[in-house]
Amino acid sequence: MKKVYITRQIAEEALKLLRENANVTVHSGTLPPKKNEIIKNIRDAHGLVALLTDQIDAEIIDHGKQLTIIANVAVGYDNIDLEAATRKGIYVTNTPGVLDDATADLAFTILLAVARRIPEADSFVRSGQWKGWSPNLLLGSDLRDKTLGIIGLGRIGSEVAKRAKCFKMKIVYYQPQRDLEKETNIGVRYVSLEELLSISDFVSLHVPLTSETRSMISRRELNKMKKTAYLINTSRGQVVDEEALYEALTEGEIKGAALDVYDKEPISPDNPLLKLKNIVLTPHIGSATLETRTRMAVLAAENTVKALKNEIPSCIVNPQVLEHRKNKT
Ligand code: DGY
Repeated sequence: MKKVYITRQIAEEALKLLRENANVTVHSGTLPPKKNEIIKNIRDAHGLVALLTDQIDAEIIDHGKQLTIIANVAVGYDNIDLEAATRKGIYVTNTPGVLDDATADLAFTILLAVARRIPEADSFVRSGQWKGWSPNLLLGSDLRDKTLGIIGLGRIGSEVAKRAKCFKMKIVYYQPQRDLEKETNIGVRYVSLEELLSISDFVSLHVPLTSETRSMISRRELNKMKKTAYLINTSRGQVVDEEALYEALTEGEIKGAALDVYDKEPISPDNPLLKLKNIVLTPHIGSATLETRTRMAVLAAENTVKALKNEIPSCIVNPQVLEHRKNKT
């Protein structure tokens, strides 16, 4: 029977599917396995089911002599060296489509939380500071008639736009390629990045981490935002320059921020962002609902099983691999 290594406990439904088709080893810890543990386990494995916390680099890939697939249980795949996998004829797959609603819900939740100062309000009540109703207590910002600037109108960005419509917001978006169909269907307006930054009351990031998007929101971009604006990031931490964000938040260049993702995860206890009141912080839980995480794990398991059966899996993110595999046979 073929072997599969899974770097963390995933949904039982997905494990069942994998166990019916392969000899499965699951890393049992709650923290990611160390690099040498992954190497040891993939030496004779045909499939690797990985999480976004596993850095699957060229060295690891080199040890997977029999590996045919790396199935990432995430829509992002910046943790995997795609070139190295492609060279070895290994499929890399992700889990698009099944986490859009959960991630858009979370983006909108933290947008509302920072706009209405929910964490501040919560600790205000718990700490016994609430002495009575007051007309100026914890005033936040309306959403109605405010402009939401979405950077990256992909699947998740589009879902965020649909939610914003229900809150009576105006929506603009930026991405390198215009999407006329979505402009009509969702009712969003295309603008340049400069314009988006300067007119938006809320800026929400929905881009993958690539060499083009790394630090795309830095000092210059934050300077262009309104002093009353909020930045929301549920994409990847490295898209935002955290030092520049700290400066912008402390010097009043923007009003607030809400982050689900960080440059380094977990966030270091001495990260100065932790001390600020005008920021809402969640621990990379964009897709963290029981139903969504189950769907993601099952999709990754289905992709793995297909590859084990010498079928072409869905959701391949390195399509060049098909050519490599053809040349090998
Ligand atoms: C992803 O799938 O890339 C998300 O960040 C997981 O929450």
